[in-house]
Amino acid sequence: MTETNRTAKLSLDGKDYELAVHKGSIGPEVIDVSKLYSSTGAFTLDPGFTSTASCESTITYIDGDAGMLLYRGYPIDELAEHGDFIETCYLLLYGNLPNAAQRKEFETAITYHTMIHEQMNRFFAGFRRDAHPMAVMVGVVGALSAFYHDSTDIADPAQREIAARRMIAKIPTIAAMAFKYHIGQPFVYPRNDLDFASNFLRMCFAVPCEDYKVNPVLARAMDRIFILHADHEQNASTSTVRLAGSSGANPFACVAAGIACLWGPAHGGANEAALEMLNEIGTVDRIPEFIDRAKDRNDPFRLMGFGHRVYKNYDPRAKIMQKTAHEVLDELGITDDPLLDVARELEKIALEDPYFIEKKLYPNIDFYSGITLRALGFPTSMFTVLFSVARTVGWIAQWKEMIEDPTQRIGRPRQLYTGPTERGYVPVTERKDD
Ligand code: CMC
Repeated sequence: MTETNRTAKLSLDGKDYELAVHKGSIGPEVIDVSKLYSSTGAFTLDPGFTSTASCESTITYIDGDAGMLLYRGYPIDELAEHGDFIETCYLLLYGNLPNAAQRKEFETAITYHTMIHEQMNRFFAGFRRDAHPMAVMVGVVGALSAFYHDSTDIADPAQREIAARRMIAKIPTIAAMAFKYHIGQPFVYPRNDLDFASNFLRMCFAVPCEDYKVNPVLARAMDRIFILHADHEQNASTSTVRLAGSSGANPFACVAAGIACLWGPAHGGANEAALEMLNEIGTVDRIPEFIDRAKDRNDPFRLMGFGHRVYKNYDPRAKIMQKTAHEVLDELGITDDPLLDVARELEKIALEDPYFIEKKLYPNIDFYSGITLRALGFPTSMFTVLFSVARTVGWIAQWKEMIEDPTQRIGRPRQLYTGPTERGYVPVTERKDD
């Protein structure tokens, strides 16, 4: 962060205050209000944090108007086209793309930590078979802190490092187990000779009674989905991880909190909701009815997979996701997917509709990811789980950055209180009926 020589002026009760203005490497300047309360006695109010930078970060940059997403400076489309998820993880965690030796060391470390403590397998049996796999994820990932005590001391950099690598390696295994438990199949142990995405697909789709050969096109698509979802700046789940971590909670617990937040339909749950919506629309001729509903202020229905808090342009991830969807469908020989027809037509109509144009509502990543994941063989209930597998590295990179920041303090927002003012306790016998 660099100081500018500019200040913002605030006038309150006839008194003038000067607020420092800081500049990042790119993006909007920020007005520093950290001393506002001590100097003026007033708080700022920003529900939903639409105008608030909650922290300083060097990891991910989004320009929502331009439709730009950079991981450590690299455009997302270049990483998705030329890189892979393992080096994306390295990049997010350590700041630069790895050289060959660094990559080998990192990939080996991730590959050799994929197994989970055997005792953890018993955890699954405690869940109902029909439990949503995200419910299982919240519980089992949280339970990692009960199994890996030797990496929960956040003051020890070596333990932080081990915890980070353990989570990147083990959360895919837990996710695949949650899937297998959900569909009543035996767990499949990880295989160290496979790359990250291939191993994950195998853990999800192999069965003991026959060979499973990983299709490289599908593995590449899975890897790309992981890259696209790996980090997204201070979104709701990442802010949750940071806030949980700011109290000194261990990283496994913080990531479990992030998974809980990701579950919601306005965040990670949107890919599940988008596919359900496409199913509900069913045929192209019903699209106008749903567009009308989305525009009706009295109808809570929204076009799932459309709109974004930050992107007021086409989500750059959605473009890559659309291409990936086509690659997967072509590879699988799915030439006439009615949902893809509905999706294409819906996108076309919405992009030409004044309501969506005025409100800058463009397709987001979730619009096409559901179609791709379904073609890969995942049920909708697994979509958000896959998002959490990918976002784990982003959460950990952001958590590490926060812990390693010497100015870090517990996150403790204030409020505009509008409840009753002080009043005396009334015994139950003397309380009036409403
Ligand atoms: N369909 C119809 N109208 C919409 C939609 C939509 N998908 N999204 C926003 N609007 C309207 C909304 O009704 C409001 O209209 P008005 O100004 O007349 O009240 C206006 O656009 C602004 O909406 P908002 O809710 O104030 O915007 P937000 O920035 O708080 O919400 C959002 C962003 C993503 C929650 C919202 O666009 C949405 O609910 N989209 C559908 C869910 C979705 O696809 N979420 C995935 C986000 S990308 C993945 C991720 O980051 O997790």
